[in-house]
Amino acid sequence: MTESRHVVSSTSAVPPISDLPRHVAIIMDGNGRWARQRGLPRVAGHRKGADAVRQMVQACGERGISCLTLFAFSSENWRRPQKEVSLLLDLFLTTLEKEVKKLHANNVRFSVIGDIERFGPKIVARIREGEALTAANTGLVLTIAANYGGRWDIAQACRQLATQAVAGSIDPATITPEQLEPHLSMAGLPEPDLFIRTGGEQRISNFLLWQLAYTELYFTPVLWPDFDAVQFNLALQSFAGRQRRFGQTGEQVEAQRDGKAAGQNA
Ligand code: IPE
Ligand code: IPE
Ligand code: MG
Repeated sequence: MTESRHVVSSTSAVPPISDLPRHVAIIMDGNGRWARQRGLPRVAGHRKGADAVRQMVQACGERGISCLTLFAFSSENWRRPQKEVSLLLDLFLTTLEKEVKKLHANNVRFSVIGDIERFGPKIVARIREGEALTAANTGLVLTIAANYGGRWDIAQACRQLATQAVAGSIDPATITPEQLEPHLSMAGLPEPDLFIRTGGEQRISNFLLWQLAYTELYFTPVLWPDFDAVQFNLALQSFAGRQRRFGQTGEQVEAQRDGKAAGQNA
Protein backbone atom coordinates (compact mmCIF):
# COMPACT_ATOMS: atom_id res chain seq x y z
CA MET A 1 0.00 0.00 0.00
CA THR A 2 1.64 3.24 -1.07
CA GLU A 3 0.96 6.39 0.94
CA SER A 4 0.22 8.39 -2.19
CA ARG A 5 -2.88 6.32 -2.89
CA HIS A 6 -4.70 7.93 0.03
CA VAL A 7 -5.69 11.49 0.78
CA VAL A 8 -3.86 11.35 4.09
CA SER A 9 -4.94 14.74 5.38
CA SER A 10 -8.69 14.06 5.11
CA THR A 11 -10.38 11.86 7.69
CA SER A 12 -13.31 11.35 5.37
CA ALA A 13 -11.46 10.00 2.34
CA VAL A 14 -12.75 6.75 0.84
CA PRO A 15 -9.94 4.33 -0.06
CA PRO A 16 -9.70 3.25 -3.73
CA ILE A 17 -12.25 0.63 -4.74
CA SER A 18 -9.58 -2.08 -5.07
CA ASP A 19 -8.78 -1.65 -1.35
CA LEU A 20 -12.39 -1.78 -0.15
CA PRO A 21 -13.97 -4.80 1.52
CA ARG A 22 -16.53 -6.71 -0.53
CA HIS A 23 -18.49 -7.66 2.57
CA VAL A 24 -18.83 -5.60 5.77
CA ALA A 25 -20.44 -7.09 8.90
CA ILE A 26 -21.41 -4.80 11.78
CA ILE A 27 -22.41 -5.25 15.42
CA MET A 28 -24.45 -2.10 15.92
CA ASP A 29 -23.89 -1.54 19.64
CA GLY A 30 -24.35 1.44 21.94
CA ASN A 31 -27.95 2.54 21.33
CA GLY A 32 -28.87 2.29 25.01
CA ARG A 33 -25.88 4.32 26.18
CA TRP A 34 -26.50 6.94 23.48
CA ALA A 35 -30.01 7.44 24.88
CA ARG A 36 -28.92 7.35 28.53
CA GLN A 37 -26.31 10.07 27.90
CA ARG A 38 -29.20 12.29 26.77
CA GLY A 39 -31.56 11.36 29.57
CA LEU A 40 -33.81 9.55 27.07
CA PRO A 41 -35.41 6.09 27.26
CA ARG A 42 -33.36 3.31 25.65
CA VAL A 43 -35.87 2.96 22.82
CA ALA A 44 -34.96 6.49 21.65
CA GLY A 45 -31.45 5.13 21.05
CA HIS A 46 -32.85 2.22 19.05
CA ARG A 47 -34.90 4.63 16.91
CA LYS A 48 -31.85 6.76 16.23
CA GLY A 49 -29.96 3.54 15.51
CA ALA A 50 -32.45 2.76 12.75
CA ASP A 51 -31.54 6.09 11.11
CA ALA A 52 -27.87 5.07 11.23
CA VAL A 53 -28.81 1.83 9.45
CA ARG A 54 -30.36 3.82 6.60
CA GLN A 55 -27.19 5.92 6.31
CA MET A 56 -24.97 2.85 6.29
CA VAL A 57 -27.00 1.15 3.53
CA GLN A 58 -26.65 4.30 1.44
CA ALA A 59 -22.93 4.63 2.21
CA CYS A 60 -22.25 1.02 1.15
CA GLY A 61 -24.19 1.51 -2.07
CA GLU A 62 -22.31 4.71 -2.89
CA ARG A 63 -18.94 3.07 -2.25
CA GLY A 64 -19.64 -0.01 -4.37
CA ILE A 65 -19.47 -2.43 -1.44
CA SER A 66 -21.29 -5.66 -2.38
CA CYS A 67 -22.58 -7.02 0.93
CA LEU A 68 -23.58 -5.49 4.25
CA THR A 69 -24.58 -7.68 7.19
CA LEU A 70 -26.03 -6.07 10.32
CA PHE A 71 -26.58 -7.66 13.73
CA ALA A 72 -29.98 -6.33 14.79
CA PHE A 73 -31.07 -8.75 17.52
CA SER A 74 -29.07 -11.60 19.04
CA SER A 75 -30.41 -14.89 20.33
CA GLU A 76 -29.38 -13.61 23.77
CA ASN A 77 -31.25 -10.28 23.50
CA TRP A 78 -34.48 -12.04 24.62
CA ARG A 79 -32.92 -11.80 28.09
CA ARG A 80 -33.53 -8.03 28.18
CA PRO A 81 -36.52 -6.59 30.06
CA GLN A 82 -39.70 -7.70 28.33
CA LYS A 83 -40.71 -4.10 27.64
CA GLU A 84 -37.49 -3.36 25.74
CA VAL A 85 -37.81 -6.59 23.74
CA SER A 86 -41.36 -5.75 22.71
CA LEU A 87 -40.40 -2.17 21.77
CA LEU A 88 -37.52 -3.55 19.69
CA LEU A 89 -39.88 -5.94 17.89
CA ASP A 90 -42.34 -3.09 17.23
CA LEU A 91 -39.51 -1.01 15.78
CA PHE A 92 -38.35 -3.95 13.66
CA LEU A 93 -41.86 -4.39 12.25
CA THR A 94 -42.47 -0.70 11.49
CA THR A 95 -39.00 -0.36 9.95
CA LEU A 96 -39.67 -3.38 7.73
CA GLU A 97 -43.02 -1.94 6.66
CA LYS A 98 -41.51 1.46 5.90
CA GLU A 99 -38.14 0.59 4.39
CA VAL A 100 -38.52 -2.49 2.22
CA LYS A 101 -40.08 -0.60 -0.71
CA LYS A 102 -37.27 1.96 -0.56
CA LEU A 103 -34.67 -0.81 -0.51
CA HIS A 104 -36.34 -2.32 -3.55
CA ALA A 105 -36.34 1.03 -5.35
CA ASN A 106 -32.59 1.21 -4.68
CA ASN A 107 -31.97 -2.27 -6.15
CA VAL A 108 -30.99 -3.70 -2.72
CA ARG A 109 -31.39 -7.45 -2.15
CA PHE A 110 -32.71 -7.87 1.37
CA SER A 111 -32.69 -10.98 3.52
CA VAL A 112 -32.81 -11.98 7.16
CA ILE A 113 -30.74 -14.70 8.84
CA GLY A 114 -31.59 -16.20 12.21
CA ASP A 115 -34.28 -18.29 13.85
CA ILE A 116 -37.04 -15.88 12.85
CA GLU A 117 -40.09 -18.03 13.67
CA ARG A 118 -39.86 -16.86 17.28
CA PHE A 119 -40.79 -13.32 16.15
CA GLY A 120 -44.32 -14.49 15.34
CA PRO A 121 -46.30 -14.72 12.08
CA LYS A 122 -46.69 -11.00 11.40
CA ILE A 123 -42.97 -10.22 11.37
CA VAL A 124 -42.16 -13.48 9.57
CA ALA A 125 -44.67 -12.59 6.82
CA ARG A 126 -43.16 -9.10 6.35
CA ILE A 127 -39.65 -10.59 6.18
CA ARG A 128 -40.69 -13.19 3.59
CA GLU A 129 -42.48 -10.53 1.51
CA GLY A 130 -39.42 -8.28 1.58
CA GLU A 131 -37.11 -11.12 0.62
CA ALA A 132 -39.38 -12.16 -2.25
CA LEU A 133 -39.82 -8.59 -3.51
CA THR A 134 -36.09 -7.90 -3.63
CA ALA A 135 -34.80 -11.38 -4.54
CA ALA A 136 -33.87 -10.49 -8.13
CA ASN A 137 -32.18 -7.18 -7.30
CA THR A 138 -28.57 -6.84 -8.34
CA GLY A 139 -27.27 -4.06 -6.05
CA LEU A 140 -26.16 -4.21 -2.42
CA VAL A 141 -26.88 -7.51 -0.62
CA LEU A 142 -28.26 -6.45 2.77
CA THR A 143 -28.50 -9.19 5.38
CA ILE A 144 -30.09 -8.54 8.76
CA ALA A 145 -29.18 -10.97 11.54
CA ALA A 146 -32.21 -11.23 13.81
CA ASN A 147 -32.67 -13.78 16.59
CA TYR A 148 -29.31 -14.86 15.25
CA GLY A 149 -26.52 -16.65 17.07
CA GLY A 150 -23.30 -17.97 15.56
CA ARG A 151 -23.61 -21.17 17.60
CA TRP A 152 -27.19 -21.65 16.42
CA ASP A 153 -26.03 -21.23 12.82
CA ILE A 154 -23.32 -23.88 13.12
CA ALA A 155 -25.69 -26.22 14.99
CA GLN A 156 -28.42 -25.93 12.35
CA ALA A 157 -25.86 -26.64 9.60
CA CYS A 158 -24.69 -29.72 11.55
CA ARG A 159 -28.29 -30.87 11.89
CA GLN A 160 -28.68 -30.79 8.11
CA LEU A 161 -25.47 -32.77 7.60
CA ALA A 162 -26.50 -35.26 10.29
CA THR A 163 -29.84 -35.79 8.54
CA GLN A 164 -28.00 -36.52 5.27
CA ALA A 165 -25.66 -38.90 7.09
CA VAL A 166 -28.58 -40.81 8.62
CA ALA A 167 -30.17 -41.02 5.17
CA GLY A 168 -26.91 -42.49 3.88
CA SER A 169 -26.19 -39.77 1.33
CA ILE A 170 -22.93 -38.64 2.99
CA ASP A 171 -20.28 -40.44 5.00
CA PRO A 172 -19.91 -38.88 8.47
CA ALA A 173 -16.28 -40.05 8.65
CA THR A 174 -15.25 -37.75 5.81
CA ILE A 175 -17.22 -34.55 6.51
CA THR A 176 -15.15 -31.45 5.70
CA PRO A 177 -15.59 -27.73 6.45
CA GLU A 178 -16.37 -27.26 2.74
CA GLN A 179 -19.34 -29.63 3.11
CA LEU A 180 -20.69 -27.75 6.11
CA GLU A 181 -20.42 -24.28 4.59
CA PRO A 182 -23.33 -24.54 2.11
CA HIS A 183 -25.66 -25.20 5.04
CA LEU A 184 -24.74 -22.04 6.94
CA SER A 185 -27.13 -19.08 6.87
CA MET A 186 -25.06 -16.89 4.56
CA ALA A 187 -24.04 -19.63 2.14
CA GLY A 188 -23.29 -18.25 -1.29
CA LEU A 189 -22.05 -14.85 -0.08
CA PRO A 190 -18.36 -14.06 0.30
CA GLU A 191 -17.20 -14.20 3.92
CA PRO A 192 -17.03 -10.80 5.65
CA ASP A 193 -13.76 -8.99 4.91
CA LEU A 194 -14.33 -6.31 7.53
CA PHE A 195 -16.09 -6.62 10.89
CA ILE A 196 -17.01 -3.43 12.73
CA ARG A 197 -18.27 -3.22 16.30
CA THR A 198 -19.37 0.15 17.59
CA GLY A 199 -19.95 1.00 21.26
CA GLY A 200 -16.50 0.17 22.60
CA GLU A 201 -16.90 -3.49 23.60
CA GLN A 202 -14.27 -5.78 22.12
CA ARG A 203 -16.16 -9.02 21.73
CA ILE A 204 -18.05 -11.03 19.10
CA SER A 205 -21.20 -11.66 21.19
CA ASN A 206 -22.12 -14.85 19.29
CA PHE A 207 -22.29 -13.09 15.89
CA LEU A 208 -20.89 -14.87 12.80
CA LEU A 209 -18.53 -17.31 14.54
CA TRP A 210 -17.70 -19.49 11.53
CA GLN A 211 -17.67 -16.76 8.90
CA LEU A 212 -15.38 -14.39 10.85
CA ALA A 213 -12.47 -16.86 10.86
CA TYR A 214 -10.30 -14.57 8.68
CA THR A 215 -12.20 -11.29 8.87
CA GLU A 216 -10.34 -8.10 9.78
CA LEU A 217 -11.71 -6.79 13.08
CA TYR A 218 -12.33 -3.09 13.79
CA PHE A 219 -13.59 -1.83 17.14
CA THR A 220 -14.62 1.76 17.76
CA PRO A 221 -15.88 3.51 20.90
CA VAL A 222 -18.32 5.54 18.77
CA LEU A 223 -21.90 4.63 19.72
CA TRP A 224 -23.99 3.20 16.88
CA PRO A 225 -26.39 6.18 16.52
CA ASP A 226 -23.31 8.41 16.00
CA PHE A 227 -21.66 6.10 13.45
CA ASP A 228 -21.79 8.11 10.22
CA ALA A 229 -20.07 8.17 6.81
CA VAL A 230 -16.93 9.80 8.26
CA GLN A 231 -16.64 7.08 10.92
CA PHE A 232 -17.25 4.44 8.26
CA ASN A 233 -14.45 5.88 6.14
CA LEU A 234 -12.08 5.62 9.10
CA ALA A 235 -12.92 1.92 9.38
CA LEU A 236 -12.42 1.48 5.62
CA GLN A 237 -9.07 3.26 5.81
CA SER A 238 -7.98 0.98 8.65
CA PHE A 239 -8.99 -2.03 6.54
CA ALA A 240 -7.19 -0.71 3.45
CA GLY A 241 -3.95 -0.38 5.43
CA ARG A 242 -3.87 -4.02 6.55
CA GLN A 243 -2.09 -6.94 4.97
CA ARG A 244 -4.24 -10.08 4.87
CA ARG A 245 -1.95 -13.08 4.93
CA PHE A 246 -4.29 -16.08 5.39
CA GLY A 247 -1.46 -18.08 6.93
CA GLN A 248 1.16 -17.13 4.35
CA THR A 249 4.18 -14.89 4.95
CA GLY A 250 4.15 -11.18 4.20
CA GLU A 251 6.76 -11.77 1.49
CA GLN A 252 4.57 -14.30 -0.29
CA VAL A 253 1.61 -11.93 -0.24
CA GLU A 254 3.70 -9.07 -1.63
CA ALA A 255 5.16 -11.28 -4.38
CA GLN A 256 1.65 -12.34 -5.42
CA ARG A 257 0.48 -8.74 -5.48
CA ASP A 258 3.51 -7.62 -7.53
CA GLY A 259 2.97 -10.55 -9.92
CA LYS A 260 -0.66 -9.55 -10.41
CA ALA A 261 0.26 -5.92 -11.00
CA ALA A 262 2.92 -6.97 -13.53
CA GLY A 263 0.33 -9.15 -15.30
CA GLN A 264 -2.09 -6.24 -15.45
CA ASN A 265 0.59 -3.94 -16.89
CA ALA A 266 1.78 -6.47 -19.49
C1 IPE B 1 -27.47 -2.40 20.39
O1 IPE B 1 -27.46 -1.39 21.35
C2 IPE B 1 -28.86 -2.74 19.93
C3 IPE B 1 -29.32 -4.07 20.31
C4 IPE B 1 -28.64 -4.97 20.95
C5 IPE B 1 -30.66 -4.42 19.89
P1 IPE B 1 -27.65 -1.73 22.89
O2 IPE B 1 -29.10 -1.69 23.21
O3 IPE B 1 -26.96 -2.99 23.24
O4 IPE B 1 -26.92 -0.49 23.55
P2 IPE B 1 -26.03 -0.49 24.86
O5 IPE B 1 -24.94 -1.49 24.67
O6 IPE B 1 -26.92 -0.84 26.01
O7 IPE B 1 -25.51 0.91 24.93
C1 IPE C 1 -24.85 -7.51 20.41
O1 IPE C 1 -25.01 -6.43 21.27
C2 IPE C 1 -26.09 -7.78 19.63
C3 IPE C 1 -26.55 -6.72 18.74
C4 IPE C 1 -25.95 -5.60 18.46
C5 IPE C 1 -27.79 -6.99 18.10
P1 IPE C 1 -25.29 -6.63 22.82
O2 IPE C 1 -25.28 -5.28 23.42
O3 IPE C 1 -26.49 -7.46 23.03
O4 IPE C 1 -23.99 -7.47 23.25
P2 IPE C 1 -23.43 -7.83 24.71
O5 IPE C 1 -24.52 -8.54 25.45
O6 IPE C 1 -23.06 -6.56 25.38
O7 IPE C 1 -22.24 -8.69 24.45
MG1 MG D 1 -25.08 -3.38 23.90
